[in-house]
Amino acid sequence: MCGIVGIVGRQDAAPLLVEGLRRLEYRGYDSAGIATLVEGRIERRRAEGKLVNLENLLKVQPLGGSTGIGHTRWATHGVPTERNAHPHATARVAVVHNGIIENFQELKAELTAAGQVFESDTDTEAVAQLIDYLLIQGFDPVEATDRALARLQGAFALGIIFAGRPEMMIAARQGSPLAIGYGDGEMYLGSDALALAPLTRRISYLDDGDRAVITATSASVCDRDGHPVEREVRQTNLSGALIGKGQHRHFMLKEIFEQPEVIGGTLKTMLNPAERTITLPYLPFDLAGIGRVRIIACGTSYYAAMVAKYWIEQLARVPVEVDIASEFRYRSPPLEQGGLAIFISQSGETADTLAALRHCRANGQHCLALVNVPESTIAREADGVLETLAGPEIGVASTKAFTTQLTVLACLAVALGRARGALDRAAEAEVCRALAEVPSRVADVLRDDSAIRAIAPSIAEARDVLYLGRGTGYPIALEGALKLKEVSYIHAEAYAAGELKHGPIALIDDSVPVIVICPSDHLYDKTASNVQEVVARGGRVIFLSDRHGIARLSAKVAATIELPEVASFVAPLLYAIPVQMLAYHVAVAKGTDVDQPRNLAKSVTVE
Ligand code: F6R
Repeated sequence: MCGIVGIVGRQDAAPLLVEGLRRLEYRGYDSAGIATLVEGRIERRRAEGKLVNLENLLKVQPLGGSTGIGHTRWATHGVPTERNAHPHATARVAVVHNGIIENFQELKAELTAAGQVFESDTDTEAVAQLIDYLLIQGFDPVEATDRALARLQGAFALGIIFAGRPEMMIAARQGSPLAIGYGDGEMYLGSDALALAPLTRRISYLDDGDRAVITATSASVCDRDGHPVEREVRQTNLSGALIGKGQHRHFMLKEIFEQPEVIGGTLKTMLNPAERTITLPYLPFDLAGIGRVRIIACGTSYYAAMVAKYWIEQLARVPVEVDIASEFRYRSPPLEQGGLAIFISQSGETADTLAALRHCRANGQHCLALVNVPESTIAREADGVLETLAGPEIGVASTKAFTTQLTVLACLAVALGRARGALDRAAEAEVCRALAEVPSRVADVLRDDSAIRAIAPSIAEARDVLYLGRGTGYPIALEGALKLKEVSYIHAEAYAAGELKHGPIALIDDSVPVIVICPSDHLYDKTASNVQEVVARGGRVIFLSDRHGIARLSAKVAATIELPEVASFVAPLLYAIPVQMLAYHVAVAKGTDVDQPRNLAKSVTVE
């Protein structure tokens, strides 16, 4: 959360900083700001709200200078006002920060007592004031920064510029990601390589504890012990072109419609449709030796993990534990040596998932990352990587990342089943046949969304919505409820359908729409009975099933949404689509900001 950029350059920095921030806005959009050195002085422009407000400000109050830093904020400490917007600065130093300085109160009290005057409510300002104080004591910028860094507790990626020193910028990383870009007589800093892609493809990543002094032609990096280190400079494949919405009104809709293609592209890397076999990319451990699997993730990625639990236990007969990353790491669960721990993350930067990975690595687990960003920290720190080929996901609500995660997890379940001897050749072929059909069936679902559009306005009026599902339909219900909450701000809850009568049934009345995920599988009859129970209490059911399932239903439901008939194994990949579409159309009906919903950020790099 929060995106930072920096430039030590030869041309006006402001337009490049803004362009970098545009590509980082997915990390937060509570405020944006830049600071540059103009004739040696620190000058700032900051604006509350989205980046466009900063751009408008710069039109009337342009900013010169070729060295500068920029920030797009997801507020943690202090309300999202201009006063709390980064960069935080004194006359001597300006700082942008992603992360949380946990001991800022203590630093603030100490510095205030020493005469420093704070002007914001943020944790970050303590860094600027601390460096300022050390500069006043006579330390040079590098010494002052090193002494300040030694006092900081928490997570940070920092970009720092100094009055009178346009030839340099300092960067430091502890926990939050930071990339250095190598240009031609210019050097850059960014929260990720995507931000820097229009400027350069030559990127190096700082490790935790690193501090770098960046000039127009070099980056000198020291590790946490102060020893000079070289960090490998890599060539990234990321496109510098700004990603557009195509003919779609929102990125979320565009990304929903991309799913047949990206699921197909992801499948292609593992599935041989002629032989009906799955081959995973190289993994540095033997799947045959895996007797236990743990999957750790957050949010939508966690729901993908829940689906995978059903799949892996069914196909590979290996017990699977699924953990929310933020709970896992503080639980200190006992870990058997040699277990497989899988970390699912679209961004590959989620702080809790990364911390869980580090915990597992330190405790003898084989760590497998399932990410959409192969250059991300989680990918770089794992033993093996499986990539989802969703392409950049710009909409803050995850859609195509989720279904490509499911695609990879389905292939992993098959590969594990084969390696463990739990799945024979014929069964593998059967699953492969069903998987190969998924892109076309998803395209079928997308071809006609009229039923979903028709019910969206009535859902938009609801205060609460319930989602029900059984088996793999349960995590899809959870994902549907999450999508609706995120983009339409309607309160939604999901329950395993069998849990309904253990409490939530008390919520049922005709004002609460109940969305039921019910493919024609071995659990159909059970879920259909739960539908009867809801209808008997006046509940307004929207029933998602295939033609057969809809025809068999005797309960009188408010609406049906028909999906293609598919093998039950791949049903979650299909049923994910209408719940995404429903959330989208409800959000449009309510007029919310679909791509950048309030309070959210796409890459959650703080705990
Ligand atoms: C929901 C959503 C979030 C993310 C979660 C994990 O639409 O996008 O719940 O799934 O923040 O993010 P990653 O997958 O990047 O670790």
